[in-house]
Amino acid sequence: MAKFVNVAKTSAIPPGEMKSFSIDGKRILVVNLAGTFFATQDVCTHDNGTLSDGEVIDGEIECPRHGGRFDPQTGAVRALPPMFPIKTFAVQVIGDDVQVNME
Ligand code: FES
Repeated sequence: MAKFVNVAKTSAIPPGEMKSFSIDGKRILVVNLAGTFFATQDVCTHDNGTLSDGEVIDGEIECPRHGGRFDPQTGAVRALPPMFPIKTFAVQVIGDDVQVNME
């Protein structure tokens, strides 16, 4: 069953930016791509880099440690060295609240 949790106001994460939040003891990364929000784990699958310390480049999350990249929508690897995708979470926007499904 879905369990959507408020994480931020939409204005807190401008387009092209991302921010990390601690929800239920997990670090969740919320990314704004041209006004659409996506949420992923905030830990790189390569060697535990903190993705929120990286950047959004060409619509992808770039890990600051070795330059691995992920698709924020699907979690798929877009650039090595990571071999495994990151977990994604459903997002909904209600009014100006960004909510992440932590089921
Ligand atoms: S820890 Fe992320 S690319 Fe190596």
